[in-house]
Amino acid sequence: MAAAVLAVLVASLPVLLGPAEAATEFVFPGFARANVTTSGAAVVTASGLLRLTNETNEVFGHGFYPAPLRFKDASTGAPLSFSTTFVVAILPRYPDAHGHGIAFALAPSPTVPGAVAGKYLGLFNTSDNRGQGRSAAVVAVELDTAKDEEFSDIDNNHVGIDINGLVSVNSTPAAYVDPGTASLVSLSLVSGNSLQVWIEYDGASMRLEVTVSPAGKPRPAGPLVSSTVNLSSAVADDTYIGFSGANGAASSSHYVLGWSFRVGGGRAPDLDLSKLPALPSSKKTMPRLLIVILVLAAVLVLVLVSGAVAALVRRRRRFAEEEEDWEIEYGPHRIRYRELHAATRGFRDVIGAGGFGTVYHGVLRRSGAEVAVKKVAHGSRQGMREFVAEIASMSRLRHRNLVQLLGYCRRRGELILVYDYMVNGSLDKHLFDASGNKPVLSWERRAKIVRDVAAGLLYLHEGWEQVVVHRDIKAANVLLDADMNAKLSDFGLARLYDHGSKPQTTHVIGTLGYLAPEMSKTGKATTSTDVFAFGAFLLEVACGRRPMSCDDDLDSPGLVDLVLDRWKAGRIMDAKDPRMGKCDEADLELVLKLGLLCSHPDPRSRPSMRQVVQMLEGTGTVPETPPEDLGSNNRLFFGYSESFDEFATMIFPESETTTVTTQPSSSHSDERQELISG
Ligand SMILES: *[C@@H]1O[C@H](CO)[C@@H](O)[C@H](O)[C@H]1NC(C)=O
Ligand SMILES: *[C@@H]1O[C@H](CO)[C@@H](O)[C@H](O)[C@H]1NC(C)=O
Ligand SMILES: *[C@@H]1O[C@H](CO)[C@@H](O)[C@H](O)[C@H]1NC(C)=O
Ligand SMILES: *[C@@H]1O[C@H](CO)[C@@H](O)[C@H](O)[C@H]1NC(C)=O
Repeated sequence: MAAAVLAVLVASLPVLLGPAEAATEFVFPGFARANVTTSGAAVVTASGLLRLTNETNEVFGHGFYPAPLRFKDASTGAPLSFSTTFVVAILPRYPDAHGHGIAFALAPSPTVPGAVAGKYLGLFNTSDNRGQGRSAAVVAVELDTAKDEEFSDIDNNHVGIDINGLVSVNSTPAAYVDPGTASLVSLSLVSGNSLQVWIEYDGASMRLEVTVSPAGKPRPAGPLVSSTVNLSSAVADDTYIGFSGANGAASSSHYVLGWSFRVGGGRAPDLDLSKLPALPSSKKTMPRLLIVILVLAAVLVLVLVSGAVAALVRRRRRFAEEEEDWEIEYGPHRIRYRELHAATRGFRDVIGAGGFGTVYHGVLRRSGAEVAVKKVAHGSRQGMREFVAEIASMSRLRHRNLVQLLGYCRRRGELILVYDYMVNGSLDKHLFDASGNKPVLSWERRAKIVRDVAAGLLYLHEGWEQVVVHRDIKAANVLLDADMNAKLSDFGLARLYDHGSKPQTTHVIGTLGYLAPEMSKTGKATTSTDVFAFGAFLLEVACGRRPMSCDDDLDSPGLVDLVLDRWKAGRIMDAKDPRMGKCDEADLELVLKLGLLCSHPDPRSRPSMRQVVQMLEGTGTVPETPPEDLGSNNRLFFGYSESFDEFATMIFPESETTTVTTQPSSSHSDERQELISG
């Protein structure tokens, strides 16, 4: 800031005008330590710029030399000459919407009381814009950057001389004569570039001449605008000199970089432009670049944050579970969805799809155990609580012929059950292998499977504290482990669909061909209906045929009738699966007969599972001849219902679970909810 210190105040310089007269001169190459008084919005910036306004609308600012000066000869009253030059810069906020400009002014007060911003340039006001009634007047040279029709402005980029009012006595568009080409070049006042202004006043001729040019260019020879002013009458005896800058509805930053002045004859000292403080040069480009960078950064941050939030939300939603207070007691049976998702690699390996849902293969991370994960869609919340209670209790069911339930997980509309994984899949795949890849099951294998299933079912019926009705015995629900041991799966699952059903409607769950005839009447699953289904299963295994395949005409004899006919004809062995080779004929005969017995249309005539197991072990007795009332099962099955209209059937593709909806007569409706019966 060495440049700024050069404030030279030369007083009492004896001049030709007489001993009473004095020339006053000063040079401010920057305002850091200059002798100026600021008012309004004006400040001297840290770098030594006199900033009259920043980019705030409707403000003005003044920077005046603090001491009053005299512009008339004390003895003769004749106007005194003065000379001044200064460098200004106007940096508009927007290129085509800017403030009102800068004026160099001679005013009766350094603060110009009553002045108004905007078009009044911080020098005049509404009631006093033409100098009327003003005792002490204002003379100004304006660098006007707004066109005000009211004051007959010629344009929004002109230089004018104002005497006691805003209607300039003379004005001309800003321009300079280029010294090289001698042609007039127009000049933008709001370019943001520094401009140098020279004002010369000759006391003798009373000519006031104003010259502008881009800072750094040589001073043009002639003035841009001039006028005759009698300063003796135009300004007060004690007059202050300085600058005013004003903004209206739009704004600019108005800067004065340096100033030199002399009154009393002679030229004002030259300004050394190299010593002036620098404008905030990056102001125009840098903030814009900065804004672009900031906006980009903000957008980037926004994108990243929203992406992260979205990912978080997706992740949360992805692994969201439903858990309610009542489930706390089942905590040990609960397996986290996140864990199952990981175990099944995002539910990729589908190993089965049945009536209740899709089954996936998985490996639990914690134990490394292979599991089958069954997803069961479930809309109703009502039955869920009872069902989960049952699931929890069922996971305590342990029998070598039951597929072990390891736990569960609950999500919105979805129940997920986790079972031991059975390597060899379901029995029906082996019995009815369409691909021909699997070897035909030998009778030894089948006999073992039949006994395994019987043992598992007996355990469900009698081996536990509660009676559990399986409700969906069929080959598809018999799974085989690595050693071809058979295990019952899906026990009790059908119950899920009973809860929450409308009181008037009963959903009979089961598979057509395995449904006991009384089911259509009562809608009630019992151990006896399980025995019926087990009978169909026995025949299925022995004969290698489904109890009722979907291409079967409903009127054609079902498997029961077929086997029964052979028995009556004394050729029961004809019913065996022809693909089986040599087999224990006595055992096969036992199984066929037992299958028929279990398929008795009258539930009271069916054996219990205990009796079935005894007969399979050879300790019970199987009748030698077919019982009288056995037979015509399929017809009876459909004829059993009192009114066929009451009975609607939906036949799904083979091996799928069938839902039969019945409208039970009122006498039965109270028994309906009884599902696990003792
Ligand atoms: C202008 O200056 C005033 C006071 O110095 C400040 O409050 C305001 O924020 C500034 N405005 C701009 C646009 O720089
Ligand atoms: C500023 O000007 C006033 C009035 O002439 C004077 O009294 C004061 O000493 C000056 N200050 C400086 C630092 O020049
Ligand atoms: C206008 O300015 C004059 C002084 O120049 C002052 O006396 C007057 O009150 C001002 N009028 C208004 C409306 O501000
Ligand atoms: C200038 O104004 C003064 C004061 O009003 C007056 O005495 C003088 O005659 C004027 N000069 C001219 C040339 O009009």
